[in-house]
Amino acid sequence: MKTRNYLNRCGRMSVIILCILFNQLNAKVETMVEKNLYGKLPDGREVYQFTLKNASGTTVKLINYGAIVTSLCVPNRNGVVEDVVLGYDSLQGYINDQSYFGAIVGRYGNRINKGAFVLDGKEYHLTINDGENHLHGGKFGFFKALWDAKVVNDSASPSVAMTYVSPDGEEGYPGNVTITVTYTLTNDNALKIVYEGTTDKPTLLNPTHHSYFNLSGSLTTSILDHKLTIDADSITEIDERLIPTGQLLDVTNTPFDFRTFHTIGERINDNHPQLKYGNGYDHNWVLNSFNGKVRKVVEVYEEKSGRVLEVLTDQPGIQFYSGNFLNGSQKGKRVVYQHRTAFCLEPQCFPDSPNHPNFPSAVLRPGEVYHQTTIYKFSTR
Ligand code: BGC
Repeated sequence: MKTRNYLNRCGRMSVIILCILFNQLNAKVETMVEKNLYGKLPDGREVYQFTLKNASGTTVKLINYGAIVTSLCVPNRNGVVEDVVLGYDSLQGYINDQSYFGAIVGRYGNRINKGAFVLDGKEYHLTINDGENHLHGGKFGFFKALWDAKVVNDSASPSVAMTYVSPDGEEGYPGNVTITVTYTLTNDNALKIVYEGTTDKPTLLNPTHHSYFNLSGSLTTSILDHKLTIDADSITEIDERLIPTGQLLDVTNTPFDFRTFHTIGERINDNHPQLKYGNGYDHNWVLNSFNGKVRKVVEVYEEKSGRVLEVLTDQPGIQFYSGNFLNGSQKGKRVVYQHRTAFCLEPQCFPDSPNHPNFPSAVLRPGEVYHQTTIYKFSTR
């Protein structure tokens, strides 16, 4: 009898050990990066898609055209995995895109007044692509470039590094700039983006990530019910061209105060001149506790799905854009993207900083290394 119990116990132990080994093996298989041909550019160059999977059921798809996130599928509170970013169905959609869906924008994220700035006494003129201003790096910025992509083999989590060499004079910027953006999907459902850049002449470098998020699981529903906090006491005030005036505006008693949770929609139509200029929220929040270290700056909560998005960054500012220019002319993933069905959270240096000595500087000089870490972390509640 005793012998039989002992043998049973041994049997059960072996099954448990086998299960653990199988799970570990499975987790390893599941955390691999897959690489597939995604399409060809009109000049014949090949674009690849990289699929990053973790053991928690999250999948991120990236392409090396524009270093774009094409899909980001994360579980809701019941474990149902759904896509939470806008995107297109094929490469052609991204080639035609004018909204920077999922891309790395730069060299300079956001606007530079009239595309002009002075650096070390020399005046530079950048491509004008937004009214009379320069936006997100010009007509053919980082978001329209083919990046050189490599799977990072020595990473504990699935990871892809993309590098682009932006030539001297591109879109009017001085210096050859080499930028590497490394996307890593961690097992706790964080998409970590690390940027590194160098130059051979003094220049500007201020890239950011431009995913359009909708946490509901449906890319056709409004984002106005999403609840938001931003750890910032002020915004950089803008004029009617969305160019900073140079003044900081205290958020106290304004629709820009997100220091406690408010839905995006609660005050978006208030009669505030800044909301008129932005067509809603399209402003840079001056983030608290800026000391070069990564800290949590934003939390978004979507009640029905239970999804939570936290943004952590080492940057001084974040552009919160409430999808005001989505107007039904963008189509992808078998749906039409309507007004305010997604929002962007773009950590960066302040817009138009080269023309405002009181703003943090985005100047990069030879010998220096530009560095940014931003994390989009998903969970449920
Ligand atoms: C800007 C918006 C702009 C949008 C382009 C955002 O980062 O703040 O003003 O319209 O990008 O899709």
